[in-house]
Amino acid sequence: MSFATNDMVISMAILFLVLLTPCSSSFWNTQNKIKTAVHYSPGFELGPGSVSNRYYYDIEFPRGHVALKGFNAEVVDESGNSVPLYETYLHHWGLYRYYESKSKLLTDTRYDPHRVLHVSDSFSNSHIMIRNSGMCQGNILRFYYGIGSETRGTNTDIPDPFGIEIGNPAEVPEGYEEKWFLNVHAIDTRGVEDKLGCTECRCDLYNVTMNEYGIPLSPSYEGGLNCCYDQTQCRLRKGFQAPKRTLYLRYIVKWIDWDEYAIPVKIYVFDVTDTLKTSDTSNIASSDHDCLIEYKVDPCNSDPKKDDECVDVKRTRLPMQKGVYFVYGVAHQHSGGIGSTLYGQDGRVICTSMPNYGSGDEAGNESGYIVGMSTCYPKPGSVKIFDGEKLTLESNYTSSTRSHTGVMGIFYLLVAEQLPHEHRT
Ligand SMILES: *[C@@H]1O[C@H](CO)[C@@H](O)[C@H](O)[C@H]1NC(C)=O
Ligand SMILES: *[C@@H]1O[C@H](CO)[C@@H](O)[C@H](O)[C@H]1NC(C)=O
Ligand SMILES: *[C@@H]1O[C@H](CO)[C@@H](O)[C@H](O)[C@H]1NC(C)=O
Repeated sequence: MSFATNDMVISMAILFLVLLTPCSSSFWNTQNKIKTAVHYSPGFELGPGSVSNRYYYDIEFPRGHVALKGFNAEVVDESGNSVPLYETYLHHWGLYRYYESKSKLLTDTRYDPHRVLHVSDSFSNSHIMIRNSGMCQGNILRFYYGIGSETRGTNTDIPDPFGIEIGNPAEVPEGYEEKWFLNVHAIDTRGVEDKLGCTECRCDLYNVTMNEYGIPLSPSYEGGLNCCYDQTQCRLRKGFQAPKRTLYLRYIVKWIDWDEYAIPVKIYVFDVTDTLKTSDTSNIASSDHDCLIEYKVDPCNSDPKKDDECVDVKRTRLPMQKGVYFVYGVAHQHSGGIGSTLYGQDGRVICTSMPNYGSGDEAGNESGYIVGMSTCYPKPGSVKIFDGEKLTLESNYTSSTRSHTGVMGIFYLLVAEQLPHEHRT
């Protein structure tokens, strides 16, 4: 049995299959049934100051009707060693699900992923993107999993008996196959003049005045994803030289075979920049959302009216259409982030996720970088979100004497529509 399709991956892929006797006494514990596979993305080449933002289609992934139990990833070099963030900053990776037409496969295997993700809202006829359950418009933030620099220290495991149901043959349209793609955005900051500035994608450091489609950026746009797209180059210290190198995203998938005891969870991604374009909150379409993905934190003292001059607090209020049980939550922030909370309509805390900053040299503990985000695992059934409940997302940053550009305030949650005891009654 092989999960590899490509020579390079075969040579590098390590596959653990932990197929022990299924646990007979309790469906609460899937420990013994969890399968784990480690795979590598295709290699991407980075030289000092350069940026790689690539899409890898049809990646190695579990096939069949399964429940995903966890997914995580990190950047490694050709020997499989973890690469520290101060050398290669992992801006983000995202895992996306799609259906691909079997017939189209034979004639057209190449298309421009950027058009798919950033310009057009829909895949071509041969590809159907399977988006998460919300909240943003179109294909924005519609990943199944998506993490950044904090990837090594962030728990993504889904508690029993929950799982993300995938590969259900009954759901795949006739003539299509379920596939997965990865987006990896990495910035090589070896030898750059301003490491934080490069990771915050400051346009001046990249000498960028137009986005990747040639559209001029507003002079007030100081930094963000529009200035650190694939193949851009951040300013180096004079005379700095180091060899290019080939890196990989090593990812670990955990899953179990789908069974009658598994309870499906839905994925929601909230973005603190999101605003609703409708006042009719009982009937919201995806297109009513307006997620900007990133925002700017102004320098301290720029606004004397602020209560707490050195903390930037950003909030948005978004309704959850249908009542659900909260199963798992985690925020995503960039350097400068000091925590994020999702509140219920009555002000109760649904989940607070705090960044953990590294304080050493080694990969996973890089000083000054966010190397992990804390997660919430409430007792199943203990945190309920009601029909139509308006949730408030709050994302806090410290603002120093300079602005932070391209920061994010994203909250990822897994929710269930039913509980174990309600199952199969
Ligand atoms: C920055 O871009 C401009 C216009 O493309 C170019 O003329 C200039 O040489 C660039 N500067 C550097 C330092 O690369
Ligand atoms: C964010 O800041 C607000 C306002 O100061 C505070 O009430 C809240 O507790 C902070 N949240 C986190 C997670 O730090
Ligand atoms: C990170 O490095 C610092 C300095 O060496 C050390 O004190 C700390 O224990 C390390 N943290 C972890 C989680 O390893």
